[in-house]
Amino acid sequence: MEKESRHGAADGILTWYRPQSRIPEDPVLLRHHEIAEADHRVLNPFTEEKLLLLGEVSRIGSGTRILDLACGKGEMLCRWATAFGSTGHGVDLSEVFLAAARERATELDVAESVSFEQGDAGQYRAPGRFDVVACLGATWIGGGLTGTIELMRSAVASGGLLLIGEPYWTDEPPEAAYQAFGFAPDEFTSLAGTLDRFEAAGLELVEMVLADLDSWDRYVASQWWTIHEWLKANPDDPDAPAMREFADTSRRTYLAYNRRYLGWEVFALRDTGAAATGLA
Ligand SMILES: C[S@@+](CC[C@H](N)C(=O)[O-])C[C@H]1O[C@@H](n2cnc3c(N)ncnc32)[C@H](O)[C@@H]1O
Repeated sequence: MEKESRHGAADGILTWYRPQSRIPEDPVLLRHHEIAEADHRVLNPFTEEKLLLLGEVSRIGSGTRILDLACGKGEMLCRWATAFGSTGHGVDLSEVFLAAARERATELDVAESVSFEQGDAGQYRAPGRFDVVACLGATWIGGGLTGTIELMRSAVASGGLLLIGEPYWTDEPPEAAYQAFGFAPDEFTSLAGTLDRFEAAGLELVEMVLADLDSWDRYVASQWWTIHEWLKANPDDPDAPAMREFADTSRRTYLAYNRRYLGWEVFALRDTGAAATGLA
């Protein structure tokens, strides 16, 4: 019961970043996202067009080897294998999302090029080095941005690329926004502040692709329809009250704060081998 109400106040992408989502054994939160994002292919505020653009600007080519930590439904690996001839391995906690990823790989005829495994990406030890290591929208896996960079660094080949999807504040949010999101004030920062964090970790920003308000709408607003339909079909499901609250809170927080104050970006970064000290 305590667990259900803990997850009742939820909002689209934002619950992913709450402290409880860092607990890999949390089936309730995961189940609610599996319901809310049942009709999504990309589990982030990126359209498929932006995903392909990210592949282009990241110079993904034939034979590029990619590791995708918290890969969701594997859309990035599958689409890039089709469009660019890359290969890839994805790790995610959700068996539901991974089943969709494998199905998608078969549908796009790239099952030979991509593979997926279930597990905690924060504990994943890569068997070798990859040309590209990605973590799009899941930097809690390493306990925050800095820890996740270290995790990714250990799996990337020399001269390789890190792709990190991360929220940032587009404007100074009011106190109420932190409360609504459940974020600590210093958890995310401005775009320039995020650059400072990358540079302090010894990374050079070499490209980036930005989510925009339309792509945010596609990610968040489309969940309301999915939940609405799910509730119609499953009115007596034990998860129904929490899913109703999920949608209610998502709508309110998204319209009041998310659209105005929160951006999302995928940053393409190279290791300079010169980490500064003293910055989180
Ligand atoms: C916001 S979604 C992003 C998914 C994917 N990167 C995308 O852009 O479509 C977050 C993903 O992280 C996964 N996840 C959460 N915690 C994880 C962990 N500790 N290890 C592996 N996957 C995790 C969830 O199952 C979900 O697929």
